Amino acid sequence: MKLSTDKHKVLYSEKKIKARVKELAEQISKDYEGKKPYMIVVLKGAVIFASDLLRALTIPCEIDFIGISSYGQGSRSTGIVRITKDLDESIESKHVLVVEDIVDSGQTLNYLLNTLRQRRPASIKVVSFLDRPDRREVDVCIDYTGFNIPDAFVLGYGMDYRELYRRVPYVFVLEHLPNGDDLLLKSMQ
Ligand code: IMP
Ligand code: MG
Repeated sequence: MKLSTDKHKVLYSEKKIKARVKELAEQISKDYEGKKPYMIVVLKGAVIFASDLLRALTIPCEIDFIGISSYGQGSRSTGIVRITKDLDESIESKHVLVVEDIVDSGQTLNYLLNTLRQRRPASIKVVSFLDRPDRREVDVCIDYTGFNIPDAFVLGYGMDYRELYRRVPYVFVLEHLPNGDDLLLKSMQ
């Protein structure tokens, strides 16, 4: 998918993403050698990243999903976090690897980690495709990061604005968040 418009700027191309995901997978496969991590994918944004990461791992790995809501319909964190879909299985004694799309204020991840820790996993680590440390409100530890990004709202590669643009295979920034009558951007939704 290619769009030439000055309204959107590609931050990370498909090629760049693929190379970085491979590096992350190599590191994770090495660190978890002899173990079988239990990947917990944070819905919905991390789904695309997790599916690429999973296929690039060279170790056995299980996968489960959790739904967390912190943003509502806007583009800034409300601090209101709740579980909208829980895990299918117990994580007791498992090596949990939380997979996030982006850590911004850290509220979502902080809440999630506190909840998961109470379920007594053997270990718990975090891999986040993107990290935006400038907007952090709570201290959270990210073990593996794809890219550190500046303070701009990003879209694509699973990440959305009002549920749109998740399917775009690269990460991009919009100069203006879209309104309903922007036909050019509609083709990317
Ligand atoms: P936090 O609780 O502020 O750290 O927000 C984390 C969640 O908000 C992420 O998992 C994303 O789903 C969403 N989010 C944060 N920044 C962006 C962005 O730039 N684009 C799309 N979604 C975002
Ligand atoms: Mg998310």
